[in-house]
Amino acid sequence: MPAGHRLGDGPSSSPEGSNLHQPSWLAADEAVRDVLRQNSASWVVTGAAGFIGSNLVETLLVNGQRVRGLDNFATGHRHNLDEVRANVGEENWQRFDFVEADIRDRAACAAIVADADHILHQAALGSVPRSLADPLTTNDVNISGFLNMLDAARRAGVRSFTYAASSSTYGDEPNLPKIEDRIGNPLSPYAVTKAVNEQYASVYARAYDFRATGLRYFNVFGRRQDPNGAYAAVIPKWIAAMLKGDAVQINGDGETSRDFCYIDNVVQANIRAALAAQDARGQIYNVALGDRNSLNDLFRLLQSILAGNGKDHTGAPVYGPERPGDVRHSQADISKARRLLGYAPTHTLGDGLREAMGWYIRHHS
Ligand SMILES: NC(=O)c1ccc[n+]([C@@H]2O[C@H](COP(=O)([O-])OP(=O)(O)OC[C@H]3O[C@@H](n4cnc5c(N)ncnc54)[C@H](O)[C@@H]3O)[C@@H](O)[C@H]2O)c1
Repeated sequence: MPAGHRLGDGPSSSPEGSNLHQPSWLAADEAVRDVLRQNSASWVVTGAAGFIGSNLVETLLVNGQRVRGLDNFATGHRHNLDEVRANVGEENWQRFDFVEADIRDRAACAAIVADADHILHQAALGSVPRSLADPLTTNDVNISGFLNMLDAARRAGVRSFTYAASSSTYGDEPNLPKIEDRIGNPLSPYAVTKAVNEQYASVYARAYDFRATGLRYFNVFGRRQDPNGAYAAVIPKWIAAMLKGDAVQINGDGETSRDFCYIDNVVQANIRAALAAQDARGQIYNVALGDRNSLNDLFRLLQSILAGNGKDHTGAPVYGPERPGDVRHSQADISKARRLLGYAPTHTLGDGLREAMGWYIRHHS
């Protein structure tokens, strides 16, 4: 375990873990693995039927944890949970309970957190363009829904609360790499909601000494990220288009850059944040790779990975106008998460894309 990083104490029961689909970082980190293996804690994952939520559920179940998932299927899918069930096996699946509910429903939030140890709050309406098209619904879900969960968790006295924040909070801050305490003005309603989440978390820390940890994700990608719909993220959308032999649409000149982060890195950050020592909680952390690739780089990399899978895609991308609300460049400084959480990304962009491509080929071609 990295110096300066301590894990919190766990509760005392001892269930069996399993070696199914063990992420490489967890296989290598005996300290975290032992905390999970020796203690079956009770976790709540909101947004459990979504991309990131379903991956959190899977890793927790494989490692002997009890998990309650909540989702209203606004953008998540039952088939994501079916896939988790198939991956973890029936014995691990017995430790999962699912509640179909909306985080705008206060009573549902209070019920889901009762007797829980750790909350991983992922439910939200993602997408900058969605928030520009319908700012009111994004506000209701991402701010009121967030506050419902935060408040319910505080009242229930949970041991940890970790939530999905966003790199969009950096807004028009021009410097690279992005450092947690240097943010600009938000460029979209979505970014406002994620910034307000952080402010509520900060007020709850000061007013109630309730420490919610915010993970500012930067462009996450990987298995189960939805390639369909008007608001699909760039990587699944492009992979699906390329697998069909369609042209890829690039907004702008393709030199827009992002810090693309593979899902296993994000799962790692969540589990480390939940188990972190008290003084590392209640803070904001960038969760990313700490690198930057342009959309043109991404397109070329995807073409070469497809070719490596015997699926040539030779068409050139179609360039269009820039999207409103998008920032030009994004790259994280991840030294704070490394130092205080022991976060160490295991997958580069290429590693992640190769793994993700295998999944999309199996499920979407
Ligand atoms: N994917 C990324 O690159 C990225 C980047 C930054 C932040 N985030 C944040 O990470 C979290 C998870 O995102 P994701 O990429 O897995 O998206 P996703 O859409 O796959 O997952 C979100 C889940 O939340 C559920 N949900 C939405 N509204 C709800 C409501 N009112 N009540 C209950 N459940 C609701 C959806 O049905 C879905 O299953 C979100 O908070 C998102 O804002 C994601």
